[in-house]
Amino acid sequence: MKLTTAGESHGKALIAVIEELPAHLQINAAEINGALALRQSGYGRGARQKIEKDEAEILTGVRNGETLGSPVTLCIYNKDYQNWEAAMSAGACDSETMQKKALTKVRPGHADLTGMLKFGQEDARNILERASARETAIRVAAGEVYRQYLLALGVEIGGYVREVCGIKDEGEYAFEDLAKAKTTGVGMLNVEAEKKAEEKIAALKKAGDTAGGVVEIRVKGLKSGFGNVMTYAEKLDSLLAAGLMSIQAVKGVEIGAGFAVAERSGKEIHDEIFYNDEKGFYRNTNRAGGIEGGMSNGEEIVIRVAMKPIPTLMKGLQTVEFSSKETAVAASERSDVCAIFAFEIIAEAVVAQVLADAVAKRLGGDTMEQVQKRYADLP
Ligand SMILES: Cc1cc2nc3c(=O)[nH]c(=O)nc-3n(C[C@H](O)[C@H](O)[C@H](O)COP(=O)(O)O)c2cc1C
Repeated sequence: MKLTTAGESHGKALIAVIEELPAHLQINAAEINGALALRQSGYGRGARQKIEKDEAEILTGVRNGETLGSPVTLCIYNKDYQNWEAAMSAGACDSETMQKKALTKVRPGHADLTGMLKFGQEDARNILERASARETAIRVAAGEVYRQYLLALGVEIGGYVREVCGIKDEGEYAFEDLAKAKTTGVGMLNVEAEKKAEEKIAALKKAGDTAGGVVEIRVKGLKSGFGNVMTYAEKLDSLLAAGLMSIQAVKGVEIGAGFAVAERSGKEIHDEIFYNDEKGFYRNTNRAGGIEGGMSNGEEIVIRVAMKPIPTLMKGLQTVEFSSKETAVAASERSDVCAIFAFEIIAEAVVAQVLADAVAKRLGGDTMEQVQKRYADLP
């Protein structure tokens, strides 16, 4: 299921085109907008979220609440475009406004400098407009469509925030507990850790500094055999890692015990296999995080993803002005201090995309009824 996204951060709109969805998938537009509202919330977000109130419009591929089997196009209009039309228009822009909006004190940790050199630009705006995490709004909208496809098969995705700048929530949570994280400020489940994380973000904001963190994403109900051991490019763990690494600011992905596998012995890490008539094959532990040999093994999928601190600092880092080559303080546009709550929503959306694609690859199907029957027939 190919997904293409397009759109600049302050351009007219963001667009997603999803190809190869089967016909008769019920689309709940209110839930798409619910996910978009969650992406805009959380403690530590910047002023942009006050300007935008994201709502996705379904432009193609859905009729009477159901997919037709044709490409589904989603669109989110940028409300901020009204303030940027003179500088961002596809036609001739007003050069004075363009000058005012130009960014040349390139920001460390951003795509600014490398993008300018690569694309022959003298204004980092021509790079940052696409590099911006605003693009994740449309990925969340598309992700909700994929989630609805997976839910029709009984596959659920949840998650929470495990760490913010060194403050950790190290609880062990049942899948059913995860939804509570969406009702908190930072996205943690442990009340004390949540409070400390909010205090940390407030202190960083005061100091002109920023934070990143770690989220845990879990998938319940995916049967075994998705992904493919036979072809390296179709291994489910590699596809999940690639999808999650494509989100702005992601610097690490762990499946199951992740980096801890290196600290422990084989006996301590591998999940022993049992069988009884009632359960069939089963395991009592899930250190593999639900994936063995690049395929889902029927256990919960457990993924942890690390986000670096937001690179735009209100008390800017040292840099160089692009044209004069003089030392400068990096530009600071209005910016988030910590976007970990939003990031968790985005990571769920990307996991939904990767898994829906893996399901479609294995099961095919022109209609949702065919997909559901093929899924039900699997062991
Ligand atoms: C949800 C989310 C919100 C973000 N908000 C900001 C922001 O307000 N300011 C900023 O400088 N970077 C922000 N970022 C991070 C940058 O987009 C990202 O670090 C930058 O594009 C460079 O990409 P890289 O970190 O993947 O190398 C955000 C990232 C995410 C996922």
